[in-house]
Amino acid sequence: MSDIKIKALNPSPEVCAMLSELLIETVANGGSVSFMHPLSREAAEAFWSNSLNAAARGGRIILGAFDGDELIGTVTLLLDLPPNQPHRAEIAKMMTRVSHRHRGIATALLREAERLAIARGRWLLVLDTAEDEGAAGLYERVGFKLTGVIPDYAFKPRGGLTGTLIYWKRLEPGSDRIRTGL
Ligand SMILES: CC(C)(COP(=O)(O)OP(=O)(O)OC[C@H]1O[C@@H](n2cnc3c(N)ncnc32)[C@H](O)[C@@H]1OP(=O)(O)O)[C@@H](O)C(=O)NCCC(=O)NCCS
Repeated sequence: MSDIKIKALNPSPEVCAMLSELLIETVANGGSVSFMHPLSREAAEAFWSNSLNAAARGGRIILGAFDGDELIGTVTLLLDLPPNQPHRAEIAKMMTRVSHRHRGIATALLREAERLAIARGRWLLVLDTAEDEGAAGLYERVGFKLTGVIPDYAFKPRGGLTGTLIYWKRLEPGSDRIRTGL
């Protein structure tokens, strides 16, 4: 694990292609990340191209976890929120390559997202995750609190409705120094 590196991603065709591959694989394996299976490369690249451009404008941070040159995980910290919520950020598009799951990569990405949120004065994080086959356990382990469930919120990638679980976490000063284990 010590050779896994986490960094903020900038727009480039190579980065867009790696993110798209990860998104397509995630959706094909049942991950609820806003898309239906099968997800075309064109649609995946259009999504990431827009998202990377938004990041370049400062409205979000897209983190990538790398094993050598290979992108093996990502998470997005959304910063572009209404003027009356300048203390808040949202977590989205958390994904780890199937080949690299259960090694603490998503946990490390979340910790880095928290560190960056604090550095930008964002001390309240919000996210949602699917009730079926989502990542509730991951978020609860790192201290997110469950607000509640909205039933029948979205379709799973291969069909069938699932609820969504709404989570929040108040970041404490100094929580950016929590060890990731990587
Ligand atoms: C959810 C997801 C991002 C988790 O990624 P991950 O990198 O495997 O996450 P982590 O390794 O940090 O934690 C996952 C599990 O590995 C375990 N783990 C963490 N480090 C570990 C280690 N060093 N050795 C063994 N197990 C470990 C964790 O305890 C956790 O266990 P559990 O989920 O079985 O209870 C990944 O499964 C995924 O991409 N899912 C599809 C997309 C999705 O649902 N995203 C969430 C959208 S809200």
